[in-house]
Amino acid sequence: MKTIFSGIQPSGTITLGNYIGALNQFVELQDDYNCYFCIVDQHAITVPQDRLVLRNNIRSLAALYIAVGINPEKATLFIQSEVPAHAQGAWMMQCISYIGELERMTQFKDKSAGKDGVSAALLTYPPLMATDILLYGTDLVPVGEDQKQHLELTRDLAERFNKKYNDILTIPEVRIPKVGARIMSLQEPTKKMSKSDPNKKATITLLDEPSVIVKKIKSAVTDSEGIVKFDTENKPGVSNLLSIYSILSGKSIAALEEMYESKGYGDFKSDLAEVVVEAIRPIQEKYNELMNSPELDEILDLGAEKANKVASKMLKKMENAMGLGRKRR
Ligand code: TYM
Repeated sequence: MKTIFSGIQPSGTITLGNYIGALNQFVELQDDYNCYFCIVDQHAITVPQDRLVLRNNIRSLAALYIAVGINPEKATLFIQSEVPAHAQGAWMMQCISYIGELERMTQFKDKSAGKDGVSAALLTYPPLMATDILLYGTDLVPVGEDQKQHLELTRDLAERFNKKYNDILTIPEVRIPKVGARIMSLQEPTKKMSKSDPNKKATITLLDEPSVIVKKIKSAVTDSEGIVKFDTENKPGVSNLLSIYSILSGKSIAALEEMYESKGYGDFKSDLAEVVVEAIRPIQEKYNELMNSPELDEILDLGAEKANKVASKMLKKMENAMGLGRKRR
């Protein structure tokens, strides 16, 4: 069975973008692959985090993974900082990364532009992400479009390591969904929806109340044309709403365009709001059950144990390949 690895940062409540671009794919793939799903808390601290908020976000993300349909009996769900091999391996991957290639990463450029006190870890984020993936002999990484560049670098680093030291790392493939790989901000539809966006009206989170969801969709930026048509260039707002509608309802974009041919944005938005509320309702119900249950800790303990076993083996192989410490078997 082939292996999948993917991660989400606990840097805020996850959005409809994370759900459609990533989580939704995870649920679909878990039956056919040996899956590792990670709460990447060490990535989250590359920018300042409040410690109590971070703790809460970690637990909340774990509950949401399960609430959307990840089955912990099939997939391994764990917290990155509970598997030390990630940080240990990341040091080795940093040693084979070039500053120039790290500076070229768009996520680094976006997050550091115009800021004082940018952490060194924001620059060395991609070698940690590469390690996350490579420790598990991962074949496939399901992510949204924004992570494509990091995946390309992961492949480059793995190839470099294999060539320089020993051919032990699997070169992973990326999997990006055809529709919904880049869900956009509801307020600035040329920018991606992001859980760290300070404008709360721009994102729908999986924990928003139904009335809040309705309000946010009603105030989503569209255009003055009044025609429901998919055209990302000229109608980014409407196209984004169409993508969300299509994924969550299972109807094709063409079918939706036809459905709203002689209707305005008002009807379109109120139907979409209902679709989103109904998609999120069962997730929230399950989430609320899990958040206060000991079951969640048991799942995460077991996940960390399983991940540690696999990751520490690969870490040893990497150390042997690079000549660190004494030869171990
Ligand atoms: P993060 O936490 O920003 O996002 C988690 C996942 O959600 C996807 N995503 C989106 N998809 C569609 N539309 C959007 N607006 C949108 N926003 C986010 C992301 O592409 C991602 O799949 N660096 C990663 C976390 C990470 C990781 C890994 C991922 C760390 N190690 C190893 C895969 C494998 C990140 O910041 O994701």
